[in-house]
Amino acid sequence: MDVVKALNSRFTCRAFKQDPVTKETILKIMEEATHSPSWANTQPWEIFVAGGDALERIRRNFMESYANDEPITPEIPWVENWPSAMEERIKELGIGRFKHLGISRDDKIAKNANWRLNFKFFDAPLVVYLCMHESLTEWSIFDLGLLSQSIMLAAQEHGVDSAPSVNLVAYPNFIRKELEIPEELMIVFGIALGYKDEKSPQNTYKSPRRPIEEVVRTKGF
Ligand SMILES: Cc1cc2nc3c(=O)[nH]c(=O)nc-3n(C[C@H](O)[C@H](O)[C@H](O)COP(=O)(O)O)c2cc1C
Repeated sequence: MDVVKALNSRFTCRAFKQDPVTKETILKIMEEATHSPSWANTQPWEIFVAGGDALERIRRNFMESYANDEPITPEIPWVENWPSAMEERIKELGIGRFKHLGISRDDKIAKNANWRLNFKFFDAPLVVYLCMHESLTEWSIFDLGLLSQSIMLAAQEHGVDSAPSVNLVAYPNFIRKELEIPEELMIVFGIALGYKDEKSPQNTYKSPRRPIEEVVRTKGF
């Protein structure tokens, strides 16, 4: 696939079909994605992929914890106070998505059911967990970010859709236990992978972007 086409057509898939993704395909995607650059080629990523029974156990635990209102315990803290412009964009995303899904502003039940999809991993057959050594800094998280986009673009080449979500690592203890992730590794981020459900309206919303003239400042040419 053409890179620009892939960049333009990647989207966060929030409804997956049950069809499995083969181990061969996943390993190919990971092999391609790990061509990503990293600080002095440190390649700080440790990747754990869960599917089948292992993922079902993690999923069950996440859904129970969410249903019981258990406090989340992410290993990288979430942002408490976003700068106002970003707070606005978060709101804009919510309003746009709910309108698209036909969920009204005050329908708390439907909004909650929608949020719950995160803890169900959007029904994905696989989740990739990106980890790194606990002694590392933001620079290595940066490398993991580069790897994340590479995974999602490489996945597209293989017809596989993706959903990056912090909620996939909201309760890291279950993931650590199930996948036997060593204590010295931080569980940083999760990406759900699978094949999109074409019929779901979850997958037809196109998120907006800031105009490029606002984002990029140029001078001297
Ligand atoms: C670091 C990060 C965390 C995210 N966390 C969530 C999440 O918890 N739930 C969710 O539905 N989407 C999550 N997303 C997806 C974003 O909402 C999405 O990328 C953004 O709205 C742009 O839409 P697009 O990916 O469809 O282009 C996350 C994406 C990133 C990169």
